[in-house]
Amino acid sequence: EKGGWSSFMRKEVSEQPEAVAKTLLGRVVDDQVVIPELESFGDDELRGIRRITVIACGTASYAGMVAKYAIEQWARVPVEIELSHEFRYREPVLDDHTLVVSISQSGETMDTLMAVKYAREQGARTISICNTQGATIPRESDAVVYTHAGPEVAVASTKAFVAQIAALYLFGLHLARVRGTLSAEEIAVQLHELQAVPEKLELVLAESEKVAQLAHWMADTRSVLFLGRHVGYPIALEGALKLKELAYIHAEGFAAGELKHGPIALIEPGQPVFVVVPSPRGSATLHPKVVSNIQEIRARGARVIAIAEAGDAAVLPFADEVLRIPLAAPLFEPLLAVVPLQIFAMELSQAKGLDVDQPRNLAKSVTVE
Ligand code: F6R
Repeated sequence: EKGGWSSFMRKEVSEQPEAVAKTLLGRVVDDQVVIPELESFGDDELRGIRRITVIACGTASYAGMVAKYAIEQWARVPVEIELSHEFRYREPVLDDHTLVVSISQSGETMDTLMAVKYAREQGARTISICNTQGATIPRESDAVVYTHAGPEVAVASTKAFVAQIAALYLFGLHLARVRGTLSAEEIAVQLHELQAVPEKLELVLAESEKVAQLAHWMADTRSVLFLGRHVGYPIALEGALKLKELAYIHAEGFAAGELKHGPIALIEPGQPVFVVVPSPRGSATLHPKVVSNIQEIRARGARVIAIAEAGDAAVLPFADEVLRIPLAAPLFEPLLAVVPLQIFAMELSQAKGLDVDQPRNLAKSVTVE
């Protein structure tokens, strides 16, 4: 079943270009988004939405965080993300102008399922983003947009994550058309960016060996920090989660702008820090801020591993290692930047002789609270 790969994880990481391509397949027609599964949501209803609440756990919640930036920018509707287990145990403010979007690879996560049921009882309309046909969460939702990543067997989520972002982006662009917040031309530009992702993912995967070497050199590392900003922030959180669960290494992700508000106290000589660097072209305001964060931590002895766009020379004087990703518009960078972080965690797990497909204490679907 592993088709020649040494682990499911390795296979699934390599299947990411296909996971995105299949999720887009048939849903982009003549530069427009076509999502027949959303027919039960009329255009009037989508125009009437005042707020979107995304509910999910773990990696799926980070896909939601990434999509928040895109959906707010494109469709001008406020999006909030909440962990399912927090959402369901308070009294969230919901009404029939709130759209609740759940994200779940398995479609069986108990907390997310209960949160969806609760939202419906409160009168909210619900859409699920799910990778498993006929699972419970889509059955309990008003509509489902399936990701077509194919079965994900390794416990840690990889290809489902990129497919979730792709599906949420399609949804965001659909919403932007219906709500008239983007022109047909602007939507076409974003769709072309999205359709270019699979090919760019192949280019990132082609650099895997460099990441593997880095992981092998770092096999004794006890703690790793991850910094990111804007859409790079959820990627920093995801990089840290992958490293915890696969390599059992203490890891934390931070928004780079938070450094001075506390985390910089953690920096001591030799501390490895991954920094997801925004594009100097696409994020002219944020790029210099992140580069200056890199200088600040480097001055305190951090060992900096930058994930930066091809050709970004500004990071070179300050980074100990640079992992390159192809040029992409800012909102599409997370789909690429996450891959070296997944590979780093996977390789470190293998360097430590751990079971990368079945990390200790974890289950693929969490059907208990
Ligand atoms: C991390 C991971 C988990 C899941 C989370 C939600 O690698 O796999 O954090 O993302 O348990 O699972 P689903 O998406 O099945 O609801």
